[in-house]
Amino acid sequence: MDLYEYQAKELFSKHGVPVGSQRVVANPTDAVAAARILGLPVVIKAQVKTGGRGKAGGVKLARTTDDVTTHAEAILGLDIKGHIVRKVLVTPASDIASEYYFSFLLDRANRTFLALASAEGGVEIEDNADTLARVPIDPIEGVDLAKAKQIAAEAGIPEAAAPIIVRLWKAFVAEEATLVEVNPLVSDSAGEIMALDGKVTLDDNADFRHPDHADFVDTAAEDPLEARAKSKGLNYVKLDGQVGVIGNGAGLVMSTLDVVAYAGEAFGGVEPANFLDIGGGASAEVMANGLEIILSDPDVRSVLVNVFGGITACDAVANGIVQALKFLGKVDKPIVVRLDGNNAEEGRRILEEAALPSVVQIETMDAAAEHAAKLAGV
Ligand SMILES: Nc1ncnc2c1ncn2[C@@H]1O[C@H](COP(=O)(O)OP(=O)(O)OP(=O)(O)O)[C@@H](O)[C@H]1O
Ligand SMILES: [Mg+2]
Repeated sequence: MDLYEYQAKELFSKHGVPVGSQRVVANPTDAVAAARILGLPVVIKAQVKTGGRGKAGGVKLARTTDDVTTHAEAILGLDIKGHIVRKVLVTPASDIASEYYFSFLLDRANRTFLALASAEGGVEIEDNADTLARVPIDPIEGVDLAKAKQIAAEAGIPEAAAPIIVRLWKAFVAEEATLVEVNPLVSDSAGEIMALDGKVTLDDNADFRHPDHADFVDTAAEDPLEARAKSKGLNYVKLDGQVGVIGNGAGLVMSTLDVVAYAGEAFGGVEPANFLDIGGGASAEVMANGLEIILSDPDVRSVLVNVFGGITACDAVANGIVQALKFLGKVDKPIVVRLDGNNAEEGRRILEEAALPSVVQIETMDAAAEHAAKLAGV
């Protein structure tokens, strides 16, 4: 889960990283009230889970309450790379002497953690990527003050940042994050170091150890179908198209999405409506849950079930589909099923025998995708 800047800063603050005071508001009147409490000048900042907010006009300095109103009105509702701004952060304007870049992240390629730091932080960091110091972090040894000083020295950022770097590492480990990024980390005219921005990605696989992280979930922004799928433990992502897709294994589902989108070109640009991986051992219950979620998506006009039996045998999948449809009752959307691999023949026989009116079987993935796209076409 990616956090909003204000949530990242709440986490930083909990681990002793200075972030300054802040208020999150959803309308200009509340922004003015917040600015009065915090004291002018303030900075008004779009809260969206994407980068480049400053360049998109989502970060503005307000010297007067009139400025606060003008900027809050302009930023709320702004579309930043497809993310609509629903909330803004109001925070005191800092007296910045220098801006640095700092992050800890999981370096999958090298199977370790990595500190990235640069003395050239700020909104142009993408253009200054060659100035980044890259320091591998041993997961057992972690980051103590000496290591933090070494990172700071390699990046050319002041040694005064070292204690903050240690706290950022503590936050990274304690919260089980895969990314903690501060851009800019600043020093002010008095040499005080502070995080003016924050980006955090939490490892969802560790959620069970962090019940408090549930508070970070933005239920208002969450897709209702995705929320329901999550509550049933399904691996589901809502997409914009019309063909519901169910498959076993993330790789197969990904390629099914491609094949559907390709086939859909011939039928007026039909596209996949979702990603749903039922994983190994697709029980009737999992199949029923998956079908139920996909069929309740009003955008879905046809469904493609694409299963390659490996550990999961196709007869079990076929039985799952039969039981799922029994359980769901009347289904008014066509379901195209392609079964191949382990026990495919038995699986096909089961479906044939069940003679379900909504189910059509097709043997190859390409032909099945084409048929599903055709059924969803206009
Ligand atoms: N509280 C603040 N006081 C003064 N200047 C600020 C403050 N917050 C941000 N700024 C200035 O605005 C710039 C952009 O802010 P910020 O880093 O939060 O947004 P961004 O980098 O554009 O967004 P993102 O990090 O999402 O790409 C900073 O580099 C800094 O110069
Ligand atoms: Mg930034």
